[in-house]
Parts: sequence; C-alpha cells; structure tokens
Amino acid sequence: MRKQIAAANWKMNLNQNEAETLLNELLSLPLSLQAHQEAIFAVPAIYIPLATHKLTGKTNMYVAAQNCHQKDNGAYTGEIAAPMFASVGVKHIVLGHSERREYFAESDALLVEKVNAVLAINSTPIFCCGEPLAIREAGTQNAFVETQIKNSLFHLAEDQITKVVIAYEPIWAIGTGKTASSEQAQEIHAYIRSVFATKYGQPVADQISILYGGSVKAANAKEIFSQPDVDGGLVGGASLVATEFAAIINALK
Ligand code: 13P
Repeated sequence: MRKQIAAANWKMNLNQNEAETLLNELLSLPLSLQAHQEAIFAVPAIYIPLATHKLTGKTNMYVAAQNCHQKDNGAYTGEIAAPMFASVGVKHIVLGHSERREYFAESDALLVEKVNAVLAINSTPIFCCGEPLAIREAGTQNAFVETQIKNSLFHLAEDQITKVVIAYEPIWAIGTGKTASSEQAQEIHAYIRSVFATKYGQPVADQISILYGGSVKAANAKEIFSQPDVDGGLVGGASLVATEFAAIINALK
C-alpha cells in the first residue's frame, strides 16, 4: 500500500513556547501510526531543532521544512538552502504552496529548480498544486493542475517521481472552512494519478501519494481520506490544535 500521510503545515504561526506546548500535547495523545502511515510536521524553520528533539525516537514521525531556496549556498540573505535542511536531518520539504506562488511569485520554472534541489539532498518534495476559485467555477481545474504538474515535475525520471509527494490544495478551500467534497477530491486526485500514469505508467502512478489540503479537520478527515485516491492530508489551521491533528493522524487509512 502506498504511504498514507498526515502532514501539518504550521505556516507562520506560534511562538516557541506555543510550539513546544503543541508538540507536548499532541505526543501525549494516543496516536496510531501503522507501518505505511506517517505524520509530518512542516514547522517554521526556526523550530526545526525543537521539533526534531521532541520527535526523537518516534516511529514514522518527521519534521519538514515549508520551503527552501533553489541554490545550494551563496549570497542570498535570509534564505535557507536544501543542504542546510539536510544537515539538520530534515527529510521532507514542502514546495510550491499556493501562498508561496501568490505572495512570493514562485513560478512553475522556479519550482523545477527547487524540486531538483530537494531531490539532490535525497529528501522528499511535498509538491503543492491546486486551482483558484475562478478556475474551479469555469470547470477547468483538471487542465490547470495538470499544467502545474507537467511544468514542474515532468522533467523527472521514473525513480525520482516516486520520491515526490503531491499535495492537491484547491485555493478556494484553504483557510476558508470550505472543503472540497470527498467526491470532488476523489475526482481530481484520480485525474492527477492518471496524469502520472500517462507519463510514467500505472505502476509508477500507483506508488505516488497524493494528499488533499484545504480545511481538513477532525470532523471531515475520515471521509476525505477514505477516498481511494486520497492518501492523507496537508493540514493548516487544524494542525495547530493538538486534539484535532491527533484525530486527523488517526483517520489515515
Ligand atoms: P487549512 O487547513 O488552514 O485550510 O490550510 C490548508 C493548507 O494550506 C495546508 O498547506
């Protein structure tokens, strides 16, 4: 069975005390992670050492970065390179989140460089895609997401694409409380898988975990994750509440 993943995206939230309290609370709750299931915490970079310390010895729980620079080093004040994350044990890096595409002008072409940078350190890119409301209303979401994927990932070889995790996050569902229905999620996840199948073949496509993101919470996680092509979630707001995220982890199939 391909990996089922509950990934927390804390975004730019919490001070250090709050971060520590959240992790302490979460880890005090009953969490059942089977061998094919993972919980990943994309925390603000400054809390990576803290989160790594807290998760030491925990099986199938990982700390992730929310972004990285495309270059390995150099005069890029304020930026953090993928090899730096590797050097502190980070194994997953979120790339191309819609907030980065929108507020930091990240293009499909830039994401090619970032994907390559993350794969070069032997880590997993959690590659985000997803359409804005106007595209969904026009009914062209499949083509929109397909273009994002083709432009930023189709240069990869077969043994590289299987290292990538996809997060489909419709922008109209992020932080709005409005979730795609489980049927909408299944429909586009199946389409995304078919895009990979056409390029790489069905056996390769069947290995790729595709997460849903956008107002996932304890109350809807089980229903969304139960869809055959939904392999877990990338969770913003609800990942900041220990009981919510614990229930989301425990809703993985
Ligand atoms: P919310 O869960 O707050 O809607 O955020 C989703 C998201 O953007 C995760 O990356």
